[in-house]
Amino acid sequence: MRFFEADSGRTQLGLAYGPSALAYLDSHPEHLDYIEVPFEQLRHTPEVAALQERIPMILHCASVSVAGTVPPTRITLEAIADIAERMRTPWIGEHLAFVSAESLEDDRSDMHHNDPGPHDPSDPTQLTYTVCPQLSEASVDRVVANLAVARAHLGATPLLLENSPQYFEIPGSTMPMSEFIAAVIDRCDAGLLLDLSHFLITCINTGADPLRELRRIPLHRVVEIHVSGLSVQSGIAWDDHAAPAPPLVFEMLQRVLREVRPQALTVEYNWSAAFPQPILHQHMQRVRELLDAA
Ligand SMILES: [Fe+2]
Repeated sequence: MRFFEADSGRTQLGLAYGPSALAYLDSHPEHLDYIEVPFEQLRHTPEVAALQERIPMILHCASVSVAGTVPPTRITLEAIADIAERMRTPWIGEHLAFVSAESLEDDRSDMHHNDPGPHDPSDPTQLTYTVCPQLSEASVDRVVANLAVARAHLGATPLLLENSPQYFEIPGSTMPMSEFIAAVIDRCDAGLLLDLSHFLITCINTGADPLRELRRIPLHRVVEIHVSGLSVQSGIAWDDHAAPAPPLVFEMLQRVLREVRPQALTVEYNWSAAFPQPILHQHMQRVRELLDAA
């Protein structure tokens, strides 16, 4: 088994798990330090863990639902802890979002009208997508409380929190994303997984200046960076791991690297098996150049 070299002094460069990452590992193993894999992937296809014979892996996660009102089950938390320990991930990168919501009892009874199977109407609704929370003090309090509960099950593996993409003004919000990130990181014993593309998407959709907003978040707490693409549909910028990162993401990366040397940087081009390998290689090279120049 091969394990991630934390605190090596050199930023490790990785790819998010997917067909393009596996193809890149075959063609350019010397340029790839690790592959980042989601807990949800390993839970459903545990054989993916065998990849660790070839390359170190970092555990990503979207199941803790840290910003939500419905906690994950004890079984889910213990499964995350078990996988984290076995793969000796340097940390667990979790979304600063929620993926579980209160039961939709009425909708469910309609939905299951012809379904004779057993059904517990109190089951939480699994959104199957991480959703950006209301940006408010109440959400900050909730994240702090949820993280404390999750930690009791997750053992000694550190947690990083990854900023979500924001697609609209969330009702009840009282602060911009930059302030929300700063407040959460200030109150939680967690490092920041800064997804530059999520941050750019948020700024585009809320009319904010991304380079100015970057200065408002605690860059010294960044442990890992994500780089991926975005696409604009009907005037809204959307997360898109099938598209290459725009030039502004690299400019933002340069700014961040003036303030911090992250332990890891993951390029997330994992949504399409047809992602062009020459562009992937070019962007991996570009990122390495920026890291070496910083
Ligand atoms: Fe990300």
